[in-house]
Amino acid sequence: MADKKRVLSGIRATGRLHLGNYLGAVKGMLELQDNSEYETFYMVADAHAITTPYDTKTLSTNRKEVILDYLSAGLDPKKSVLFVQSMVPAHFELMHYLGSVISVNRMQHLPTYKEKVKQYSEEASMALLNYPVLMAADILAYKAELVPVGVDQEPHLEIARQIARNMNAKFGTDFPEPRIFETSGKYVPSLLGEGKMSKSVDGSYINLSDDLDTISARLAKTPTDSGKGDNVPTQGYVANLLFFVGLFEGAEKRKRYEEMYLSTGIRYGDLKSDLAKAIYETIKPIQDKRMEMEKIVEDVILGGSKKAHEVSSIILSDVKQKMGF
Ligand code: TRP
Repeated sequence: MADKKRVLSGIRATGRLHLGNYLGAVKGMLELQDNSEYETFYMVADAHAITTPYDTKTLSTNRKEVILDYLSAGLDPKKSVLFVQSMVPAHFELMHYLGSVISVNRMQHLPTYKEKVKQYSEEASMALLNYPVLMAADILAYKAELVPVGVDQEPHLEIARQIARNMNAKFGTDFPEPRIFETSGKYVPSLLGEGKMSKSVDGSYINLSDDLDTISARLAKTPTDSGKGDNVPTQGYVANLLFFVGLFEGAEKRKRYEEMYLSTGIRYGDLKSDLAKAIYETIKPIQDKRMEMEKIVEDVILGGSKKAHEVSSIILSDVKQKMGF
């Protein structure tokens, strides 16, 4: 056990998981959980949810919902430590210590931070500025080496690596430099044609809990063109629809649509209805499993958070001692 490489990942507790979370992050989590070379820690990042304006009631339900989605998607408490970030105090304490080796200037220049500042201006908080330091603490609290997340998280991982290097140089700790673990699904585009599938953009996502009618309705709302032209679009909403066809119905089917685009034209009503069915078939087993998981979710959270606490508190003690506390 001791020389297994550690893996840590988390998803912000901003709502039920969507297809983008599943294909971009959870698939990678599953892959590593089933590889015996790794010891896997997966959390719901509820403390990260308060870095932008939020609702207290929703936060308390989302925490459990995300763990339920993890379990339904196949994360297994016998193989992975599944836990809630805020139930493990080492993350917060370590965040403060790590904050001493990275400059405000460096944090203010992160593209993710600048974007959010534009969005929230007056409401942009200290917690928001500290977001990447908390994320570094999440990872370093377990000395995790691999982090299965979407590529958009790379700037945050770069901060975690820099913090690890600075800690090691200044205090003689032995933090590994964490790397991203990329999954095959990785980047899942928005249904609207711009950017990625995201909970914070209405109309951009499909939830793992959506039934066939809901999926059909969401797809019906996505914009399309006339269905034919001289070139198959390589970006934008039509390109994204074809990407989803390839992902859920296979490369062959996608190719047929591409041929239709150049000749007879695509009838989007048919395309969307077939695609909705294919997506629903993929997520139906996850939904079926959810009911069953309701019974064990509370125990999983307690057991996982206790285990995470045991592991992280040892690493934290060592850091404190090396830093002169
Ligand atoms: N920032 C991540 C995201 O938005 C969520 C996250 C928080 C995370 N802490 C983490 C991911 C630690 C990996 C490791 O997707």
